[in-house]
Amino acid sequence: VDKNLNLKEEIRRLCKEKDAIILAHYYTVGAIQDIADFVGDSLALARKAADTDAKVMVMCGVHFMAETCKLLSPDKTVLCPDLTAGCSLADSCDAADLRKYKAEHPGYQVVSYVNTTAAVKALTDVVVTSGNAVKVMESFPKDAKIIFGPDYNLGNYINSVTGRNMLLWNGGCHVHEKFSVEGIVNLKKAHPGAVVMAHLECKAPVLAVADVKGSTATMLKYAQAHPEQKEFIVATEAGILHEMQRTCPSQTFYPVPPEVSEGSLGCSCNECEFMKKNTLEKIYNTLKYGWPQIEIDPAIAKDAVKPIERMLELS
Ligand code: 13P
Ligand code: SF4
Repeated sequence: VDKNLNLKEEIRRLCKEKDAIILAHYYTVGAIQDIADFVGDSLALARKAADTDAKVMVMCGVHFMAETCKLLSPDKTVLCPDLTAGCSLADSCDAADLRKYKAEHPGYQVVSYVNTTAAVKALTDVVVTSGNAVKVMESFPKDAKIIFGPDYNLGNYINSVTGRNMLLWNGGCHVHEKFSVEGIVNLKKAHPGAVVMAHLECKAPVLAVADVKGSTATMLKYAQAHPEQKEFIVATEAGILHEMQRTCPSQTFYPVPPEVSEGSLGCSCNECEFMKKNTLEKIYNTLKYGWPQIEIDPAIAKDAVKPIERMLELS
C-alpha cells in the first residue's frame, strides 16, 4: 500500500464505489471501529448481515463471523481482510469429532455457540451467542437432551442459570480462560466501588465474582445505562474498551490483566491476536481487489444456515 495514501479516506471512497459496508467487532482496533459502518457483538453483526442492502460486506472480525455473514446473505460478496483470522474456540470443535459424538448420543439435539465453523453449524439444531444463549435455551423443554459446544464455560453457565443438564464439549477461548479471580481482586482493592463485568466465556470462578455477565454488547449497554457508576473492571478482550470509553467518557474502565500460565496459547495479553489481524491496509486491499472472499460449500451452507435462522427467530 502506498505510504502517502490516506487509508481512512480511501476505504470510505472504495466503499461508496463498490456499494460496500464495513462491519466490525468490538475487539478490532479502534481505528477500524472508527471507520466501520456498524460495530457490534456477534449477534448484532449477524442481524446486520441478514438485513443489509449493500452488495458487498467487509467483515472485520474473525473467520467464523465472515462465514455467518455469507450464510445469511449468500448472494452478497463477503470480504474477509485476513482469512487466517481464526478463533481458538471455533478450532476446539472439529466437525468430524462432533459427528462421532452425536452418533454416540442418539436422541440428543446439538446447540452450538456461534463461534464454530460452518461445518459444525451444519450438524447443529440451533446456534446461540453470548447475547441470547439463556433466552434461546429457555425455549427448550427443561428435560430436553442437549449437547452444547464448544465453549465449556458458557455451557456451564447456561446449565447453572437455567437448571439444565446439557452435555458440555470441552472447548474454550484462550483469551478469556486467562482471566483470574486474583486479577479482579487486585483491581477491586485499588477501586473498591468499581462494577465487575465479565464475558460468559470466562471461567466459573471469574463469573461468580462478576456483577454483570454477558456478551460484549451486554457489558457495553450496562455501562451506558448506568452513568452513576463511575468505575468498571472489565474481564474480556481489551478492544471493547474503545467503544466503552468513546460512548461513556465520564466513566473509567479498567481491563483485567490476564494470568499467564506456562504453555498458554498465543499472546500473553488480554488481546485476541486473531481479531488484531484486521488492519486498515488489509481492509483497503480487500476492497480494492475484491479478495479474499468467503466461499462456503453449498452442501454445508444449506444445513449450516438453518440453526442460525432458528436462533434469529427465537431471539
Ligand atoms: P460476543 O458475542 O460477545 O461479541 O463475543 C464474541 C467473541 O468472540 C467473544 O470472545
Ligand atoms: Fe475466538 Fe476468543 Fe478471539 Fe473471541 S476472543 S474471537 S472466542 S479466540
